[in-house]
Amino acid sequence: MTTVKGCLITLEGGEGAGKSTVLAALRDHMVAQGVRLLVTREPGGTPLAEAIRSIVLDSTLGPVCAESELLLMFAARAQLVRELILPALDRGDWVLSDRFTDASYAYQGGGRGQPSARINDLEAWAAAGLRPELTLLLDVPVTIGMARVEGRSAPDRIENEKTDFFERVRRAYRERAAADPSRFRIIDSSLGIEAVRKSACAAVDAFIARRKGGA
Ligand SMILES: Nc1ncnc2c1ncn2[C@@H]1O[C@H](COP(=O)(O)OP(=O)(O)O)[C@@H](O)[C@H]1O
Ligand SMILES: [Mg+2]
Repeated sequence: MTTVKGCLITLEGGEGAGKSTVLAALRDHMVAQGVRLLVTREPGGTPLAEAIRSIVLDSTLGPVCAESELLLMFAARAQLVRELILPALDRGDWVLSDRFTDASYAYQGGGRGQPSARINDLEAWAAAGLRPELTLLLDVPVTIGMARVEGRSAPDRIENEKTDFFERVRRAYRERAAADPSRFRIIDSSLGIEAVRKSACAAVDAFIARRKGGA
């Protein structure tokens, strides 16, 4: 049974990077170690935030301007943070989220050109300044990620974007990770599933060990 206090860990990366695959493995890995864990995803995680997710990803609603997209993402995030994440952390539980605010910097910032100063303000206000303690960036070349998700289901509004958009998203993610190496671990997810799972579990184990040691 672990005795470390609760904290937020996030998984980030583009389409087909393997976030859902790694999330399932990490959940099992952490629960097996006695970590009390809340698993969630963005946008979504609560009834309101999941309803906002359906709107954001709906490709039948006509054009969505970048400002609306950014605000919808933060509307969902504001609810998720207050309804689920902060109460879990207050109980001392751990939280593992499939995407969080870094995705806004990457998609609405890098992808759509929204200024990062604006996203920063929203992060401080709407996301209550909450930053993950550990973020695993699953990094894969865009063409490989896209090929993995091809035929998964009808592409949603964001999945319908062109390669250029996803190249900007990937670059923004990598720049954020490079700028904050103490929080980010970059995992080469062009490797096979087993290798990626192993690196992700090792990164979380090292983080838990460091935290237990009070470092
Ligand atoms: N490292 C990997 N190598 C090859 N295929 C992978 C790898 N990781 C995931 N996949 C496969 O790619 C597809 C997308 O993975 P998924 O975990 O859903 O990605 P994401 O949640 O990041 O979009 C799934 O079919 C999954 O089995
Ligand atoms: Mg996924």
